[in-house]
Amino acid sequence: MQLIIKQLSKTYSNGVKALSDVNLTISKGMFGLLGPNGAGKSTLMRTISTLQDVDSGTIFLGDLDVINNKHEVRKLLGYLPQEFGVYPKVTAYDMLDHIAVLKGIQTGRKEAVEGLLQRVNLWDVRKKALGGFSGGMKQRFGIAQALLGEPKLIIVDEPTAGLDPGERNRFYNLLSEIGEHVIVILSTHIVDDVKELCSQMAIIDKGRVLYAGAPDAALSSIKGKIWEKSMTKQELKEYDNQFPIISTRMVSGQPKIHVYSNSTPGNNFQEAEVDLEDVFFTHIKGLIN
Ligand SMILES: Nc1ncnc2c1ncn2[C@@H]1O[C@H](COP(=O)(O)OP(=O)(O)O)[C@@H](O)[C@H]1O
Ligand SMILES: [Mg+2]
Repeated sequence: MQLIIKQLSKTYSNGVKALSDVNLTISKGMFGLLGPNGAGKSTLMRTISTLQDVDSGTIFLGDLDVINNKHEVRKLLGYLPQEFGVYPKVTAYDMLDHIAVLKGIQTGRKEAVEGLLQRVNLWDVRKKALGGFSGGMKQRFGIAQALLGEPKLIIVDEPTAGLDPGERNRFYNLLSEIGEHVIVILSTHIVDDVKELCSQMAIIDKGRVLYAGAPDAALSSIKGKIWEKSMTKQELKEYDNQFPIISTRMVSGQPKIHVYSNSTPGNNFQEAEVDLEDVFFTHIKGLIN
């Protein structure tokens, strides 16, 4: 079963065009939706999650018309919103059980709730109030509630924002297990999230899809075209006007720039080993299309 999005557009009442002719085909596995803040990621995810309407376009999950069958879609959907609020005084167990009731899970509810608490590694703290949970624990709880009812389509909106490296790793492991059997769409502004987890990706900015495909193919397409050079901060100012700089990183306190160029830019630039961050910035800065 595939999720097929065609010509989706949305302009908010304040005139912001949040989605502009979005076309995507998403198959089973982990799909990374990568874009800077304001790109339109949450708008797209809320639309797929049936919480918001668009001006035009279609979304199909297999044969199911998502936009016109919201009720049917919700039975197949697990959604973790970007701002996931919990009742601070309620225990993890009670909250998950409550959400299970709301989702209409009747038979096997106890087993489902207990199984999920174990799966996301919150069993030992199931009787603790959610208000005392760390960011990582809250996100794992968020995944547990999204997994209730064995959804076929799981949407997680910036789930790793605010997690420390250890929490992020545990969260990656959990997501990658889930992604083997169903469609998981993960949005993020963090390139590493996509690198670690996703077999397919899209880069979006200003409501438009700039790239869609495998991360590997994106890397191949810029191989040999990214050049790097370390320099002083003073030199950086000079280079800034002269070269298509795609990123500046500090390495041991010194700026190292990456530029995009079909052939060597001279000036002692070295060919860089390309990574997904180069892909991201070459697209965001409109250097390739
Ligand atoms: N309810 C809304 N009303 C008006 N503008 C909105 C609304 N939600 C989002 N936007 C605007 O739409 C654009 C895309 O936002 P969003 O989908 O939240 O992007 P992202 O999740 O990638 O940060 C932004 O310019 C944002 O300010
Ligand atoms: Mg967002």
